[in-house]
Amino acid sequence: MNYAASRLSAVRPSASMAVSGRAKALKAQGHDVIDLGLGEPDFDTPSHIIEAAYRAAVDGQTRYTPTDGSVALKDAISSKFERENGLSFRADEIIVSNGAKQVIFDALMATLEAGDEVILCAPHFDTYQSMSLVLAANLVLMPCEASAGFRVTPEQLDASISHKTRWLFLNLPSNPAGAMYSREQLAELGEVIARYPDVLVLSDEIYEHITFDNLKFTSFLAACPHLKERTLTVNGVSKAYAMTGWRIGYGCGPAGLISAMTKVQSQISSGASAISQAASVAALNGPQDDVLRFRQAFQQRRDLVVNAVEKISGLTLDPPGGAFYTLIGCERFIGSRRPDGEIIDNDVAFANYLLDDALVAAVPGSAYNLSPFVRLSTASSESLLSQAMQRIDASVAKLLTPETGE
Ligand SMILES: Cc1ncc(COP(=O)(O)O)c(C=O)c1O
Repeated sequence: MNYAASRLSAVRPSASMAVSGRAKALKAQGHDVIDLGLGEPDFDTPSHIIEAAYRAAVDGQTRYTPTDGSVALKDAISSKFERENGLSFRADEIIVSNGAKQVIFDALMATLEAGDEVILCAPHFDTYQSMSLVLAANLVLMPCEASAGFRVTPEQLDASISHKTRWLFLNLPSNPAGAMYSREQLAELGEVIARYPDVLVLSDEIYEHITFDNLKFTSFLAACPHLKERTLTVNGVSKAYAMTGWRIGYGCGPAGLISAMTKVQSQISSGASAISQAASVAALNGPQDDVLRFRQAFQQRRDLVVNAVEKISGLTLDPPGGAFYTLIGCERFIGSRRPDGEIIDNDVAFANYLLDDALVAAVPGSAYNLSPFVRLSTASSESLLSQAMQRIDASVAKLLTPETGE
């Protein structure tokens, strides 16, 4: 019996979940696997946030909230944007959902017609692709090479927009490459978009607080205020406050778009968990010291991986400007031979080799539509990361590359 509708064939299983699944299976067999596949902070949710959730439950905040979010959380989101981004949003320009993922799905479900085009910067978060394809949209990929800082240029963008374009996705800083854009670079993209009045922009800013080297984060809309009627800014508490399991994300955009998204959400999930919303109010309105502590830890871990990769001959890595991943180039090893004789013919095979030989789980770049790379998450302790890098060093040293035959 085939239970799945044909539209589901467009949904690729999450690559990071697949890698983690293999890693877990090996662990269950007793192997000492280091799993650098998944993207979630390894920190605990700060205690004042947990206490706020407990108080909310005890105080009886245990009922449905409005579909688009509680008044208190919308207020906190509005203040966050004023304080951190210099942007103002009214309550009817805000929706709260079960994670940023649901915000994105609500938006696409509410707006896409079959055959519409969605433009993605490759490499990109794999969910953007599956959600667009399941809604019968067509993808237009803009390859963003390492040599360009994994950023899209205004010329590339201009060449990718057509009369069928519905959405352009931006991800600042990006998963998996950690690409950051300056205010000027965003403004240049905005000039191109301004010439195409039917194009909507989804700016996913979920990694806003994880930026390195004192690089200043600029929200897309802050750089392009003239695009307010066409921009959906997506954010959430998962990454900044180590709250992935609480499932709260939010989107801010024109009231008409938010209202259409609320219509979608009202029949799919209603409002997000009342208790998680109360916890998110505490996260956004409360002390922000933990956000800084997490950022500093992620910076140290990024530095550790960057330094380690520099010493491994054949691997390449441009230091990411933000987020908690490193996208490591492995081109030199494509075509090389493993000690067991198998040829590594792409980055999937390279990631498989790392798992088999180094017992390190990493996600191949092809999962994000840019090869040949592997993504290592830096959301693990420094000691695990340095062990992983030592193992990777030892494993790649055993590969026989075509140039040397050694
Ligand atoms: C770029 C990006 N956007 C959104 C999400 C999902 O966030 P949430 O946990 O709020 O659904 C992720 C999680 O990996 C992500 O990497």
